[in-house]
Amino acid sequence: MGTRRKIIAANWKMNQTIAETESFLNDFRLEVEDVSGVDIIIAPPFTALAKLSELLGGSQKIRTAAQNFYYEKSGAFTGEISATMLRELYVKYVILGHSERRSLFGETDALINKKVHAALESELKPILCIGETLAEREAGREKEIIATQLRGSLAGISAEQLLEVVIAYEPVWAIGTGVTASTAQAQDAHAHVRAVLAELTDAATADKVRIQYGGSVKPNNAAELLAQPDIDGALVGGASLDPRSFAEIVKAGGRD
Ligand code: PGA
Repeated sequence: MGTRRKIIAANWKMNQTIAETESFLNDFRLEVEDVSGVDIIIAPPFTALAKLSELLGGSQKIRTAAQNFYYEKSGAFTGEISATMLRELYVKYVILGHSERRSLFGETDALINKKVHAALESELKPILCIGETLAEREAGREKEIIATQLRGSLAGISAEQLLEVVIAYEPVWAIGTGVTASTAQAQDAHAHVRAVLAELTDAATADKVRIQYGGSVKPNNAAELLAQPDIDGALVGGASLDPRSFAEIVKAGGRD
């Protein structure tokens, strides 16, 4: 195992107004004042990104992420947002291929692959989400699904580029359900992700890539998950909406 710094990200999904974002940040900053040694990311809705960036004022400690973007540079794409627009707001990361985007908005590995390339070209770091459904796990197909999603979404990505990518393993059956993968299930899947990344590039590169776990991460299960050798962080939905509970998860990944 290398020396991968933990990365804990809040995925707010379609929650939090500008006013709520401001109030969250006031409380959250106090909670994590003494925490170090961990990367903290917040992905608010697009409408709160500008305010969040302004409030953070170039903070190195807390970075912003977008929850999505479109791969074209500009043009007739009603409702979409480009990488340049995000960079203008000092956004550092972008969540790509979340299972809600895949299942509700029809995103495929081929589309996600275009977004991964476009993000890297614009110096946005992708947080690439992958993960199997319950039916796929029950059929014993989770490893095959993980490999297919990684190969498709990362097609044409060099080893150097892969170092800029964060992978989020999120079993779909654990997202928003309160059911977390057991630490053994999560570690097993993460080790498999790393093995596939090594196949796509090389073992030394794969060893440096950070792999987050996502799916019902809470203050009471974060430490155990984050103690697994191949779990390098968390992508947190529901529990990231409350400043205290998100701070507890961040503390589990850092030093207090
Ligand atoms: P959850 O969501 O923590 O509410 O399960 C995780 C995610 O969808 O990224």
